[in-house]
Formats: sequence, structure tokens, C-alpha cells
Amino acid sequence: MKILVTGGLGFIGSHTVVELQNKGFEVVIVDNCSNSSTEVLKGITAISGKQPIFEEFDLREKNKVQDFFARHTDLIGVIHFAASKAVGESVENPLLYYENNISALVYILQELQKKDTTNFIFSSSCTVYGQADELPITENAPVKEAESPYGNTKQIGEEIIRDTCKVTSNLKAIALRYFNPIGAHPSAEIGELPIGVPQNLIPYITQTAAGLREQLSVFGDNYPTDDGTCIRDYIHVVDLAKAHVIALQRLINDANKSNYEVFNVGTGTGSSVLEVINSFEKVSQKKLNYKIVDRREGDIMSAYANTQKANTELGWKSESSLDDALASAWKWELKIRS
Ligand code: WQD
Repeated sequence: MKILVTGGLGFIGSHTVVELQNKGFEVVIVDNCSNSSTEVLKGITAISGKQPIFEEFDLREKNKVQDFFARHTDLIGVIHFAASKAVGESVENPLLYYENNISALVYILQELQKKDTTNFIFSSSCTVYGQADELPITENAPVKEAESPYGNTKQIGEEIIRDTCKVTSNLKAIALRYFNPIGAHPSAEIGELPIGVPQNLIPYITQTAAGLREQLSVFGDNYPTDDGTCIRDYIHVVDLAKAHVIALQRLINDANKSNYEVFNVGTGTGSSVLEVINSFEKVSQKKLNYKIVDRREGDIMSAYANTQKANTELGWKSESSLDDALASAWKWELKIRS
């Protein structure tokens, strides 16, 4: 069973390729290497003992997308990760984000519409909920006005897939709304490779502990939470990767209830920034240099998932603890600095 994984050299994509190969799927990766490297192929192969097929091209080139699907007629599904994901950059350059994240999606769906039957998994985000009125967040929580062009591309992406599914009964799709993916494969063969100064909490923590950054800034301690810092649902990337394989199996086995479904993928537990720091210090045995600074513009106070739908409908549950995830992130940081 052959699956296309776009963005398969990226952080979540590479971990998903490993889990797919572990379950016997044949994987074709398409990646333009704009935020990844072909070195990742070695890590994937080292873990799973199988080298995925790899094609390097940009999915914004419609003729290349058409040519790809004409050559790979035996694909039974697509997991679409390829996208730009930096919130700040999307505010600076919205058209880049609309082109990267929307055009490629449309071109792929146009090809899938031509097939007799096919399956599609989309990387969506808890960012679609904004600051939800009720916590934990269920899939029925309203989608709030997007705070950034990046967030908007996830909302629009979901709408494009939903509308396409309405008129394409041969297309079955699931959008997975990720909470905060962290960590690395326990083998430390693959992990997150942020380019430049990390914007996300965990790579900033591990780079500070490794001596690359002087000090972590904690963005605000005066939120109305127990310790005053923001709360997020940090999910181990391997658990998240497994959710993709289970979602794909649901589509293949026709266990889906409608041809377009949405699932939250998180742990169900919220952790504050200070709790994350404490957990990191425990598992790494390192004291982290940090200071409290002003709030970061655009940050929401608290977001964590109600995972009941994924638990009961998908039969998926996150397994790793925050400690496990942070220990794997630290092991990976040490490996790439060695
Ligand atoms: C986590 C917490 C910060 C850095 C990201 C994406 C978003 C969505 C979800 C994908 C916050 C605090 C951070 C630092 C800090 N993902 N922090 N110092 O904000 O939840 O958003 O994941 O679709 O689009 O941007 O994640 O890792 O940036 O921040 O104090 O140097 O850590 O304020 O409370 P966030 P994050």
C-alpha cells in the first residue's frame, strides 16, 4: 500500500514516515527541502530499515504535481504535511503563506478528484480555536477568527477539503488538529531541526541548556493561570505520528462516519511554561537559565485538548509523558551538537 507523504523530511512528517513503514506501508516522500534536509532520509532508514522513495520538487508547481500523480497511479492515499509554519513570517509575508499552504493543497486535491477512491490526511492545528471559551477544547468549539495568515491557511485548508469532500464521494479525508508537538524519536536518529533562532518553547529550552542561547525568556507570568504562565498541551511527536497511521487505517478500512472528519490530537493535559521548565530540569539534570519578560503579542492564555473523540472513534491515545517527550528532545539536542 503506497502512500504519498508531502513534507516527509520535516519534523512531524519524518516521524510519520517511520511509523508508516513500521506498519508495512510503502512511502513516497515529496519535499522541496526548504526547511529540511535529505540527511533526514538516513535517520528514517536507520530506524525503520527501509529507505523511502524520495522526490525533490515544489508542490506549488502544478505541472510537477500532475506529472507526479500520472507516474504514481498506485497511490492509495496522501498525508499532506508540506507547508510553511512560522506565525511571525506569515504576518510579514502573507502571500508566501497563501501560495505555499493553499495552492499546493488545491493542486493535490485536483489530482485526487480524478481517482476512483482515495484517502487524504491534513495537518491542521489547534490554532483554529484561538482562545477557546471552554477548556478542554472539543472539536465542536467554534473556529475563531485567525490571528495570523498562517492560522488562516489552516482554517481555509480545512474548508477547502470539506467543500471538496462534499462533491467528491470517492475522496475520504481527515483533518488532524495538532496541539503542541514536541520531542524526537527515542533513537535520536530524527528530531526537530529549527533553522535560526527557535520560536517555539522546547527547542529554545534545549538550545539554551546546550549553551547555544544564553537565556530563555518566559513570556509573561501574570496570566490568570495557577502559576501565571501560559498553558499548552505538549504532545510527543511519536504519539502524533502514530495518530496519522491510525487515521489512515480508519479511512482505508472504511470505518469513517462521514467522508470528512476532524480530530483533536493532544494529550488532554495542559502544562504551564514553568511546569515544562521544571520537567526539563528534572530529566536533563541541568539548571536552565531563564527570566520572566513581558507577554508575547498574540499568545493565548491556555489551550489543551479534549481527546475523547480521538480516543473513542480513532482508538488512539497519547502514551508518552511530558518527561518522556522532554527527555527525547534533550537526547536529540545532545546528539546534533556532538
Ligand atoms: C508555547 C508557550 C509561549 C517561546 C505554536 C505555533 C502555533 C500552533 C501551536 C501549529 C507559550 C511560551 C515560547 C519562548 C516562552 N502550531 N514561550 N518563551 O505559542 O502554542 O504556538 O504551536 O500550528 O501556530 O506557533 O507554541 O512553542 O511558541 O509557545 O515563554 O521563547 O511557551 O508564550 O506560552 P504556541 P510555542
